[in-house]
Amino acid sequence: MPETLEWSAYSDPMLPALERERIFARAWQYVGHLVELGEGPGYVAARVGDIPVVVTRDRDGVLRAFLNVCRHRGSVLAAGAGARETLQCPYHAWTYGLDGTLKAAPRSNREPGFDCEGISLRPASVGTWGPFLFANPDPEAVPLADILGELPELVAATGVEVEQLQHHSRAESSVEANWKLVAENFLECYHCAVAHPGFSAVVDVSPDAYELASGDTFSSQFGPVRGNGSGLDTAGEVKRSQFHFLWPNTMINIFPGRTNLSIGPLLPAGPERTDRFLDYFFGSETDTAWIDELLAFDGQVGVEDKVLVENVQRGVASGLIERGRLLPDSERLIVDFQQRLQTALG
Ligand code: FES
Ligand SMILES: [Fe+2]
Repeated sequence: MPETLEWSAYSDPMLPALERERIFARAWQYVGHLVELGEGPGYVAARVGDIPVVVTRDRDGVLRAFLNVCRHRGSVLAAGAGARETLQCPYHAWTYGLDGTLKAAPRSNREPGFDCEGISLRPASVGTWGPFLFANPDPEAVPLADILGELPELVAATGVEVEQLQHHSRAESSVEANWKLVAENFLECYHCAVAHPGFSAVVDVSPDAYELASGDTFSSQFGPVRGNGSGLDTAGEVKRSQFHFLWPNTMINIFPGRTNLSIGPLLPAGPERTDRFLDYFFGSETDTAWIDELLAFDGQVGVEDKVLVENVQRGVASGLIERGRLLPDSERLIVDFQQRLQTALG
């Protein structure tokens, strides 16, 4: 029977720095969507894990990503998102072009020993999939498409065309638990029948119907609609739910019913806290009553999961038990996740 990670991994104050260096510094992660950039030149500030990044698009439509850290004395540079021609640091107003080069530093003309030339934001990598923006802090990262692999085809097979999706809203939340516990909770539906009565009334979560699939860069869960299901109107193009987890921290959800997709990352915020956001997208034809129904349905699942995961955090942080055990089949996506973690952390 496989064992879990050592439970100290969920509260060890030394681990976030190691995870930043070994995992997030080279991870592709969803950071936002194209509409946030405005029509022309613009930017989106985000985090990959806990690493600040900024994605820009210049006048010519060229997308770039940088570490969102001022080269002067290290302030986080940009906040939020929008249409802009330059990025100006809130600390001493150093101003960078959307190509990352330093354009102006106040008073620098009075300082003969100072030259803006050659100062530039540190580059990172950027990629898109339909309207979705991804960044990777590593400037030499393998292309996003290599990491997505078959994922776009799997999503397209539900009938959801990502190019046609329209952003509806962003749900932001935080959980008082280590990011890995939040990920692991997403990676099994063993708890669904016990803890998500509403969800389990719509999606068939029995082990013979609910399918788990692990791949090189992402894992997937496929849940068919219950024959006599109730709780969400599942009439529509999407016949089966899909829940994907792109290593190490991006989640993609598609529910049965009308055209819908939500996507967002888990963002470590210290050893025992996780920030997250989820961007909801719908087809342009999707009626608002159904959208409200889905948001309420998914929101309820989220409320239930927050309680579960915070409970686990308190238990594993008690410090007197070394580790737990995993069900080899029902929890095999967690086994896979924990193996990846151990490989990444060495
Ligand atoms: S830290 Fe950015 S301008 Fe000083
Ligand atoms: Fe759950």
